[in-house]
Parts: sequence; C-alpha cells; structure tokens
Amino acid sequence: MPDLVGSIDAGTTSVRFIVFDEFASIKAQHQLEFTQYYPHPGWQEQDAHEIMDAVNQCIEKAVEELEKGGEFTRSDIKAIGVTNQRETTAVWDKTTGKALTRAIAWPDARNTHTIRELAAKSEKGNDAVKEQTGLPLSTYFASGKVRWMLDNIPEVKKAEQEKNLLFGTIDSWIVYNLTDRAAHITDSSNASRTMFMDLKKQQWCPELCKFFDIDMDILPEIKSSAEVYGTVAQGALKGVAIAGIAGDQMAALVGNKCFSPGEAKNTYGTGAFLLYNTGEKVVSSDNGLLSTIAYKAGPNAPVHYALEGSIAVAGSAVKWVRDSLGLIKDASEIGELAGQVDDTGGVYFVTAFNGLFCPYWDDTAAGTIVGITAYTDKRHFCRATLEATCFQTKAILDAMAKDSGVALKALQVDGGLTNSDQAMQIQADILGINVERPEMRESTALGSALLAGSAIGLFGWDINKPETLAKVNTAGKQTFAPKIDDKRRAELMHGWERAVEKAKGWNE
Ligand code: G3P
Repeated sequence: MPDLVGSIDAGTTSVRFIVFDEFASIKAQHQLEFTQYYPHPGWQEQDAHEIMDAVNQCIEKAVEELEKGGEFTRSDIKAIGVTNQRETTAVWDKTTGKALTRAIAWPDARNTHTIRELAAKSEKGNDAVKEQTGLPLSTYFASGKVRWMLDNIPEVKKAEQEKNLLFGTIDSWIVYNLTDRAAHITDSSNASRTMFMDLKKQQWCPELCKFFDIDMDILPEIKSSAEVYGTVAQGALKGVAIAGIAGDQMAALVGNKCFSPGEAKNTYGTGAFLLYNTGEKVVSSDNGLLSTIAYKAGPNAPVHYALEGSIAVAGSAVKWVRDSLGLIKDASEIGELAGQVDDTGGVYFVTAFNGLFCPYWDDTAAGTIVGITAYTDKRHFCRATLEATCFQTKAILDAMAKDSGVALKALQVDGGLTNSDQAMQIQADILGINVERPEMRESTALGSALLAGSAIGLFGWDINKPETLAKVNTAGKQTFAPKIDDKRRAELMHGWERAVEKAKGWNE
C-alpha cells in the first residue's frame, strides 16, 4: 500500500485536514468552519477549544473518507504537518491545559493604545524593535496581544504570577493538545511573528521580553519547521508522527516550491500575504514590508528568510459583503457581479476594517468607501471590494521592487479568492504583469505536508534538495494577462492612493 502524508491546515475561519500522496494528489479531506466572535468594533476572538474540536473532527472524518475509498487505511498515513493562521494568540493554564480566555485573532486591533505607548518608549517609535524582529510595532503581532491580556484579564495575570501560564500561537496550541500536553513548542516561522524572537538567532530574546514585560517561561520551545516533535496521542491517527510546522503563509511558499531567492507567491485567504524568498539572508525593508523567517527545514538546516507584504482584509471583505451586507448569497457570486461591469464607476473601497497593514502601517485608517453616485449599484460595489485587495497587492509589489531592486515578471497566486477568474483578471490588469494560477491550489496544506514528509524522509523528499520533490505536481498553470494599458492602470492606482489618504486618520 503506498504511503501518505497528512496536513492540518488551521486557517482564520476554518480548519481542514487533507491527506496527500507522493504526487500531491488529494486522497481525502474534511473542512469545518468555526465561530468568530466580534464583541466590540475592531475586536476578533476565537475559542481555542472549538478550534481543537474542529481539528479532531476533521481528522476523524477525513480518515473515514480515506478508508471508505477502499484503497488506503489510516496506517498508510506516516506523518502529519501542522500549518496555521499566524499571530493569533492563545494562553492557557499549565495545570489544567484549559484556555484562560478566548484567543485574540490576528486582525484584532484592541491593543492600539498599548502599541502606541510602547512606540512612545523608544526614540525609534514604531521601529523600536525592527532591527531584532524585522517587524514594525503593530496591533498585528502576538506580543501586543499577550501584553493586553496580562493587563486586562485578571485570570491571565494570576496564572502568570503563579507560574501556571503558557502562551502559544495556534500551531503551539494544536501540537500541545495533539500530544496530550507533552510538547509545548512552536517553529521558527511562527515564532518570527510573535515579536519575542531574534530573527537572526532564531531564539527568544530577553531584551524583547523585557520590552513587552513578559515572563520568558510562558513561551514555547522554538523548533525547526521539519522534525519529529512527538506523536498523536489519541484518535484515528494515534501514534502518527507530527513532523512539520509552519505558519500558513510560509507553508504556501513551500507548497508553491518557491525555494530560490527571488521567487514569490501571493495567497488570498482571509487576508492576502505576498512572500518573496530572500534566501539565507535577512533583507530589511525601507518600504513598509516585513522581514520574516520562511522556513528552516530541519534542526541543522539553513534558515530561509522572506520579505512579506501583508494585507489584513481580502477574503474577509467578501465574507462581510455576503454575511453582513447580504449583497450576495455565495462568495463565488462576487466575481460574477464584478465581471458584469468594466469598472467601478469611480468607486473605491478601502477595506481598512482594522487599520491598514503593508505597506501603509496605519492603525488610524478606517474602512472607507468613496466615489458613490446614484449610478453605483452592487456590481460596482462588488468590483470595488475585489479591487481593494488587488490595489494593495500592487502597492506591495511596488515596495518589493524598491527593496529588492528587481521587479517581478509574473505573480504566482493561490487561496480561495483565486477561484474567481474575474478577480484574477482584475489583479493582472492592476499589476500590469501576468498572474499565474496553479491547478493545485491547496499550496498551504501541501507545504506543511512537504515539511512533515521531508522530516522523516518519506518518498525521498528533502526540502533542502528541491530536486527530490520533482514528482510533486505543482505544474498546470492558468495565466491571466493584463488587458488594460499603462495609462489606465496609473489612473486607477492614483485613485486608490487618494482613497487611502481619505481613510487615514479617522481613528485618531
Ligand atoms: O498572518 C495571518 C495569516 O496567517 C492568516 O492567513 O490564510 O487565514 O488569511 P489566512
């Protein structure tokens, strides 16, 4: 019986378990959405236990589906990887293993004032810790979320004082639970998003912990992205090795086989995240991008870094148009409606639900719609919603070209929003370069499966020798070429930048 490898893909709104063979063909999968809590404007919370229940159920259901096919059994799954929404912050009690409060999700901006106070402590302002972490001070990263919990939730403070507090991003929480609390770990890609880690040393940094005033003992141990961390303690995969961890965007870079410096991909999920492989060196951005760890595929393997452009709102705007405005019933309708008009009729929608991330980094910006007239209808609005992500992607690519000195010739894309042909055509028009969409779009899950397989030498895979992954089928691409001219493109982008200026400063 051929071997298989599994991947837990714990995203912002849903969890999936996918089983792959050595060619990256999907043999079974199951997906479950979980609850998002929005208790106040700008807040977003998740129940860590609900996430774990969804993980366990997805594993059970996918294994059931796998065995129903008759070709495979659960014992063919030799290892699993974990990939996850990054920065989302969970805290739990060491003695009970129970979460002490709901997890604060990465888009949550409740800690704006905490962040401003921290910036005011340093002459460098928002760049106070950029040299060590590669990141600007922002509501986005885990450090400010932990600080907020310690300052505002007495149970969390009490657990810290009693030395019972454990912190982790969602990868950490999942592995802790899968191993029945045997492993409190994370990988260096996730750790690079906490703001507690020294990017060059890949170790927790005492000065950073002091800056955020947190006890280093609450932090998980940092491991590489490909090694055996432990085994699944119970359920359908009892005894299977957990052998890969990476943040979802880094996993998508691996799943797209962007192993060489200069290769890049953009994943359109809840947010959109463009990662550009910079090889074994940290490239610091002067243009609003993040420096981050891409992957370290083995305890003794070299670290690969990336420049990242993060867009906070992409698919979540489509979800909002569907669930909160009720303009569409199904996410797929947005592209169809947008495609019925040639332009937005002058409407711009700056989807700054929680401020703006790359390259603007403005926590005062608010969601803003400009240019509405009596001519505007929902088709224009749907198009403006899709264009918002595409314009931000253009702003990020321009920043990357400035930082790297090289302009991308084509953009590789994946993620939910890329299912829309119309969205991808709009993206190509706004960028002025080809957009290449692979047939196999589960790059995130595939990336973590590749890391896990590589860790145990399954199928002869070794991420550090990309030629060993030749059989992994990521070929088969559809290309969207730009159809508008440079003059029109510049006009559209100019309109977007004006709209961004209108959005800034609203939440002073
Ligand atoms: O940094 C947040 C990111 O990891 C979330 O990814 O795919 O859920 O939008 P996604």
